Amino acid sequence: MASRPPSFLPSERPEHVTLTLFPANSPYMSEVRGAARRAGAAFIRASARTPSDIDGHLFIVDLVQTPASGRLGRRAIAISNRLDIDAYEVITPDQVRWRLDRAVRNLVERERLRRRLESERQTIRVLNEIGYALSAQTSKNDLLDTLLTHARQVLQADGGSIYLVDQDARTVSFTCSQNDTIPFRANRLTLPLDESSIAGFVAVRGEPLNIPDVYDLDETTLFRPHLRFDKETGYRTRSMLIVPMKDREGIILGVLALINRKTTPSVPLTSFDQVTPFDDGHALLAGSIASQAAVAIENYRLYREIRNLFDGFVGAAVTAIEARDPSTGGHSHRVAALTTGLAREVHDTLDGPFGQVRFTEQDLTELHYASMLHDFGKVGVREEVLLKADKLYPWEMSGLEARFRMAALQVMLEESRHIVRHDRLSALETDLALVRVLNRPGRRPNAAERNRLEQMVEEWELHDHLSAAPERVVQRSDVTRLCIPYGSLDPEERLEIERHVKHTYDFLKAIPWTRDLKRVPELAYCHHEKLDGTGYPRKLKRHDIPLGARLMTISDIFDALTAGDRPYKAGMAPARALRILHEEAERGHIEPEAVLLFERRKVWETVLPDFQAT
Ligand SMILES: [Fe+2]
Ligand SMILES: [Fe+2]
Repeated sequence: MASRPPSFLPSERPEHVTLTLFPANSPYMSEVRGAARRAGAAFIRASARTPSDIDGHLFIVDLVQTPASGRLGRRAIAISNRLDIDAYEVITPDQVRWRLDRAVRNLVERERLRRRLESERQTIRVLNEIGYALSAQTSKNDLLDTLLTHARQVLQADGGSIYLVDQDARTVSFTCSQNDTIPFRANRLTLPLDESSIAGFVAVRGEPLNIPDVYDLDETTLFRPHLRFDKETGYRTRSMLIVPMKDREGIILGVLALINRKTTPSVPLTSFDQVTPFDDGHALLAGSIASQAAVAIENYRLYREIRNLFDGFVGAAVTAIEARDPSTGGHSHRVAALTTGLAREVHDTLDGPFGQVRFTEQDLTELHYASMLHDFGKVGVREEVLLKADKLYPWEMSGLEARFRMAALQVMLEESRHIVRHDRLSALETDLALVRVLNRPGRRPNAAERNRLEQMVEEWELHDHLSAAPERVVQRSDVTRLCIPYGSLDPEERLEIERHVKHTYDFLKAIPWTRDLKRVPELAYCHHEKLDGTGYPRKLKRHDIPLGARLMTISDIFDALTAGDRPYKAGMAPARALRILHEEAERGHIEPEAVLLFERRKVWETVLPDFQAT
């Protein structure tokens, strides 16, 4: 987004001071004209009716000839017999001959100093404004475009270009271009980094070039201007000011070229005769702007490098999480895409509960990182707990099955010896089948099944001659696990999994986030909180949970439901997942309006092009 260029126009040049005598028929004409000439100012015959109509001139007011007001201000010398006139100096008619010269010289000098001071002040203001505008840019193209717009406005240039230097490739590339008179799209042009072109010459020498008319260049000059634009469009490049863009270490990052100085900035030229040359003051100002731009470009490059480094780190962290639990592969990326996609929808909503909510690009970046890393703490959870698909761990189940097999052998042996009834073997098989059924996650045993499990503990024992006491086929700990009512985790394992949120927070908290990303740890910390305070780990309520985190919770649940890659459940169709989200919202767990928006805008279809519910 380009900001408005500053309105600074260095039109009052210190050397062009003008002096007017008022009224035009004053008898002191020749004295004033001579005094102006000796002070180095131009004398201009008064054409206005009163001194206050005269703008930008110094003036001498002959109050003997005119009944003008006694308030003339600090830019006027009065000739008057009254001494109470408000003016720079008051001279009586009899003093004119010997005092006028010195008074005019002092007034002109004072005016020059005032203009210089004003010009310096404006330069500083302009550079500050440009610096501010440049620092607000988040893309390199916007940065260059803003720079060129400001430089052309301030220096009243009809056109301009920026070339960037590639020291490794020894090239200088035409990167950005503007022209008020003939708007055009510039093609990228790459020139060798040598003295054969104007841009190359300035980039190699590191000194500015000020050319009054490029068509009048001496045949012996080393460089040749690039005038293809003129040939193709009928444009006439005349004056040019080309300055190097040096960073803090004096390294030349690019070249700023300004073309055709004119009297009114931004207005297209109606004739190329309106073009004037740039002067030394303009070259100085252009040099300052170019240096500031170089620093901005350098800052931008460093910023990009840090961001890339950070993206690399986040990518590596996500790979580390997903390597531990390949069954949830892609979860972090999908949650990040869904959360920022939903946040953009909230941002675009102009009425209703989200009518006033806005997410800036920085907010979205922050939310992106928080979502990418929300489950990073899972690296601190034991792998067997993280991957637990059934109520018994695989090795527990195989131990249990082995004991059932041994028991079967024992029963067969006892049957052959007629020690036990013949239906014992099938009873054993029925019990094993029940154990297998109850081992599945979410399979809650009814009262009869619970009873049967208790009886199994008492009923089935393995006897061998090596152990002092018989071993139970189904152990008490197996019964506890098989009675887990929801999912596959017992309360302790559930707590261990839930601790991933705190691990995530502790890990993210240790990172020295930049100011614009400082809420990443807090956003991730809230992703399992619920609006009614029944979430974990802090049991926060709605007003304590940032909106970004509330959106992340919705995306997290949606992805957990629809992803077909969990070991214990197949992916759900979006319609079913949305029904569950609505139920969660009705229970007061998640934001109902955000769920509605998520559904209405089909966020998953927009942000996950490969979305496929199984
Ligand atoms: Fe989580
Ligand atoms: Fe998650």
